Amino acid sequence: MTPVAPEAVAIVEAAGAHVPALLQRIEDRLGEVAASHGPDLAELAGSTIAAGGKRLRPLLVLVAAGEPSGEGEGLVRAGTAVELVHSATLVHDDVLDAAELRRGRATVVASAGREAATATGDLLFAAAFRQLVANGSVAQVQALSGAGSALAEGELLQRADAWNAEVPVERYLRRCELKTARLFEAACTLGVLEAAGGHADGRVAPLAAFGRRIGLAFQILDDVLDVSGPAERIGKHRGTDLLDGTVTLPFILAREEDRTLAALDPRAIATPERAAEVCDAIAATGALDRSRSRALDMVAEAKAELPPDLPAGQHRALELIADGVVARYA
Ligand code: IPE
Ligand code: IPE
Ligand code: MG
Ligand code: MG
Repeated sequence: MTPVAPEAVAIVEAAGAHVPALLQRIEDRLGEVAASHGPDLAELAGSTIAAGGKRLRPLLVLVAAGEPSGEGEGLVRAGTAVELVHSATLVHDDVLDAAELRRGRATVVASAGREAATATGDLLFAAAFRQLVANGSVAQVQALSGAGSALAEGELLQRADAWNAEVPVERYLRRCELKTARLFEAACTLGVLEAAGGHADGRVAPLAAFGRRIGLAFQILDDVLDVSGPAERIGKHRGTDLLDGTVTLPFILAREEDRTLAALDPRAIATPERAAEVCDAIAATGALDRSRSRALDMVAEAKAELPPDLPAGQHRALELIADGVVARYA
C-alpha cells in the first residue's frame, strides 16, 4: 500500500482506520483512469498523476464524509473525481503560467507542448465527471462542475489582472477564492453529500464553508512559497508568479513598505535572476510573515466555525488538515 505522507499520519489516525485503504483505492483508480485512453495520453496523464502531489483534496472528501457505512465506493469515485479536476487544472494552469516545473518534474507543456497539455487537461476533466456521474447524484455533479467553472473564471481574472501591481487585496482574494477555494469547498461538499446518501439537509453548508476558508488560506500560502522557494522544497521554480505577471498578496503588501518595490513595473522582471532579487526584496519587508498571518487567521476562523457536534476524531482530523494548510512554510 502507498505509505501515507508523514504530514498526514496524524490526520489519518484521527480520521479513522478506514482512511488509508480508501486513499489507496483512489490512488489505484487514478492510475487506471490515466492508463485507459491510449498510449499518448497514458504517458502524459500518467506522468502527471504518478508525479504525486499531496492528495489533499481527496483526503478532504474522505474526512468530510466520516466513516462510511458500506465499502465506500462512492467516496472513492468522488475523491478520484476531485483529484482529476485538480490535476486537469494544474496541467492547464502550467500552460497559462508558462511554468516549467511541477511536482519536481518538467510540466506537460514544457515536455510535450501546448497542444498536448491542452488535450491532457481536457481528458482529465472529462474523466473526472465520468467517475463522478456513476454516483448518481445531481447535487454532486453540480458541486464539482460549479468549482470547475469557478476555476476557469479565476484563471481568466488572473490573466485580466496580469502585470497590474495595483490590484486591490479584495480582488486578489476573489481570484484565490475562484481558482482554489471553490475546489476545496467542493471536496467537502462531495464528502458530506455522499455520506448522507441524498439526505444531507443542513450538514453541507458548515463543512463547505470550512473548505472554502482553508482553500483561501492554502492559496495565500502557495503564493508565499512562490516567493520563499526554494525549488527543491516546493517542486517548482521560485518567482514563477512574478515572471508571468501574477501579482499576489506578498507583493501587494511589500509594495506598501518598500518604495523601490512600489515603483517597480512588474514587466521589468524578465529573468529568473531578477525575479529572485525581487523575491528577496519582498521577503525583506516582512510581507511573507504578514501574508501568512492572514492565512493563519482564516484557518483559525475555519476551525472555530466547525460544527461542535461532529464526531471527535473527524473534528480533530479537520482541524489538523486546516493547520497543515498553513504549516508548509519554514
Ligand atoms: C497546487 O495545489 C495548486 C494550488 C491550488 C496552489 P497543490 O499544492 O495541492 O498541488 P499538489 O497536488 O500537492 O501537487
Ligand atoms: C493555482 O494557482 C492554480 C490552480 C488553481 C489551477 P497557482 O498558479 O499559484 O498554482 P501553482 O503555483 O502553479 O501550483
Ligand atoms: Mg501556476
Ligand atoms: Mg503558485
